[in-house]
Amino acid sequence: RYEITQRATTAEILPGVRTPLWTYDGTFPGPTIESRRGRPVTVRHRNELPVPTVVHLHGGRTPAASDGYPTDLVLPKAWPGRAHGMGGMRMGGMRMGGMHMSGISGMRDPRAAETRLVRDYAFPLDQRPTLLWYHDHRMDFTAPAIWRGLAGLHIVRDDAEDALGLPSGHRELPLMITDRAFGAGGELRYPALDPSLRERPGVQEPYLAGVLGDVILVNGAPWPVHEVDAARYRLRVLNASNARHYDLEAVTDDGRRLDLVQVGADQGLLAAPVVHRSLPIAPAERYDLVVDFARVPVGGRVRIVNRLGSGRTRDVMAFRVARKARDGSRVPRVLSSDVPVWRRSEAVRVRDFSFRAGRMDGGHGWLIGGRPFDPARTDVTVRLGDVEVWRLVADVHHPVHLHLVGFRVLSRDGGPPLPHDAGLKDTVSLRPGEAVEIITRFDGYRGRYLFHCHNAEHEDMGMMANLEVV
Ligand code: C2O
Ligand code: CU
Ligand code: CU
Repeated sequence: RYEITQRATTAEILPGVRTPLWTYDGTFPGPTIESRRGRPVTVRHRNELPVPTVVHLHGGRTPAASDGYPTDLVLPKAWPGRAHGMGGMRMGGMRMGGMHMSGISGMRDPRAAETRLVRDYAFPLDQRPTLLWYHDHRMDFTAPAIWRGLAGLHIVRDDAEDALGLPSGHRELPLMITDRAFGAGGELRYPALDPSLRERPGVQEPYLAGVLGDVILVNGAPWPVHEVDAARYRLRVLNASNARHYDLEAVTDDGRRLDLVQVGADQGLLAAPVVHRSLPIAPAERYDLVVDFARVPVGGRVRIVNRLGSGRTRDVMAFRVARKARDGSRVPRVLSSDVPVWRRSEAVRVRDFSFRAGRMDGGHGWLIGGRPFDPARTDVTVRLGDVEVWRLVADVHHPVHLHLVGFRVLSRDGGPPLPHDAGLKDTVSLRPGEAVEIITRFDGYRGRYLFHCHNAEHEDMGMMANLEVV
């Protein structure tokens, strides 16, 4: 059982200035929760922020009542005009989801659950061990809420994984990568005015493509330098950025690229390790990596670089190899024997979904199957236990996320999946113009869940749909 108070505070993120934040328990990222597989955890959230919030455990196999449906609000103490009056909530007075300002319209949803100031979220965590994260999920306002700081990590472990001998203790580092933009006084700017965003063709509004920042934060610190032993480390990487994609590589002082040995994906360990030279990571994706710093002389540095960035957004963080050390860790050739494999022939259904820009509410929005999110409409009904193939087609980059289930990538544009598609995922990065097939079994719980684009601005601008498991 945990208790988390959501509250506003300030923190020194950039040297010498204080940044106002919305936090889980006063820190950004919020407190890291560590759980054991199959041992239920209850997290009591108290909302002391000036706005309603919703907590979702991303990647959690959670009964619908605790999954953080976007209209299932934890209200703040004072909430004048409960059914309207969204003014002043938007960050920095910028237009956010201007075309989709239905605001609290979710309250019209007859199925919207009761709302309260304090809320117990119950997580059975009956699932493969992995790195999960929790973040705000309020309808139309998820992106600015995450931007202001409402995100934290939740690690699930089990005995089988502990026994593998992967690097652990201080040699296991969760890395939550985000980007933010700051004003001169240290305040967060939203949308950020990153010129690279405006250079993209077809972007009429600064937030339409998603909001980028020009400062890269890892675990809330700008471009940190972390001292390491000359040994293997397990880096549990999460891209918690609203919209920024990274293509990560680990580069030594003399320009060598270290192997990124992938041992796990969004939904836990791979069957066997996959070695990458560089690794693309879209918003909400996680990669469980082992990097061997013994390949670098003591005193040397390893920079984590984003090959898609330019200028200072190319740098993510650095490791300084501080000392020689003994290393009893290993990366076994066989990591896991319980990665589900579903065959195409098992699928009872194939569904098609387009993820495209379109018109909504008289402006531009982001649509799934031509429609913007509506909490009162069921978009897809699946039967508990059914295996289905979903074919997802994109216009521009869309990282597509399903609640409740993990899935496997079956194909990309008719060809085989890419090396980084290995294992069980809950978020898949659709590249521009691409068709990606995924396969999963809808098991776990019945109820109303979501699937959506995890570019957080796209999500707020309508690119989300209801998935009813019956
Ligand atoms: Cu990480 Cu529905 O979200
Ligand atoms: Cu999720
Ligand atoms: Cu998108």
